[in-house]
Amino acid sequence: MILNAVKLTKEYEQGEKRIRAVQNATFSVEEGEFVAIVGTSGSGKSTLLSMLGGLERPTSGEVFLDGENLYAASDNRLSEIRNRQIGYVFQNYALLPVLTLRENILIPQLIAGGGSKSYMEELFDLLRLRDRLDHLPSEASGGQQQRAAVARALVNQPKILLADEPTGNLDKQSAKELMDLLMETRKKPNQTIMLVTHDPEIAARADRVLTMDGGVLR
Ligand SMILES: Nc1ncnc2c1ncn2[C@@H]1O[C@H](COP(=O)(O)OP(=O)(O)O)[C@@H](O)[C@H]1O
Ligand SMILES: [Mg+2]
Repeated sequence: MILNAVKLTKEYEQGEKRIRAVQNATFSVEEGEFVAIVGTSGSGKSTLLSMLGGLERPTSGEVFLDGENLYAASDNRLSEIRNRQIGYVFQNYALLPVLTLRENILIPQLIAGGGSKSYMEELFDLLRLRDRLDHLPSEASGGQQQRAAVARALVNQPKILLADEPTGNLDKQSAKELMDLLMETRKKPNQTIMLVTHDPEIAARADRVLTMDGGVLR
């Protein structure tokens, strides 16, 4: 078991109202598994994923990544876990616009103060980025930008890759290409993936599908 969520709950205060974005989510993920999270808009998928990724502190409940309790860790330790053990991909790529694709991908290794250069080189090839590495994100297609964002997420060989609707901004062909390449990256390091998607074709490729419904896992 690489990831374990225990009674994860997130509530937001909005004026007088209390929004229960995620309620009591309990599940675990095995190493190497590819889990898809589906559900209607507003059902709590992004909130759940960001709690799993150490980005959003739960109102209550726990997340264990390879046995380590994320939200019991110090701020420094949590930053280190996010840098080295968790890869995160957003729908809008979230690349730094003033840096080239190569520089964007290198950043997590600079922060970590080291890492495998050969794995980075492998990702350049695997994610078909060679001809755009020295270009800015604005000079790359959406598909290329998202492939670079995936390379950045994987460059430190994280224990888990979390992706929030990574194909949401891509046309059908680029979306399929991204998914095909993601499946390739799984093979070598036995990469564990959790991916939020609206696309039934993508969910069908997962080992397991979790459905969010009004903040509750079904
Ligand atoms: N920062 C926030 N403040 C207040 N409410 C939020 C916040 N983030 C999300 N929500 C609410 O929590 C619920 C779940 O949102 P979200 O996790 O983004 O759903 P999904 O990703 O499935 O569309 C929604 O009702 C949303 O409006
Ligand atoms: Mg969302």
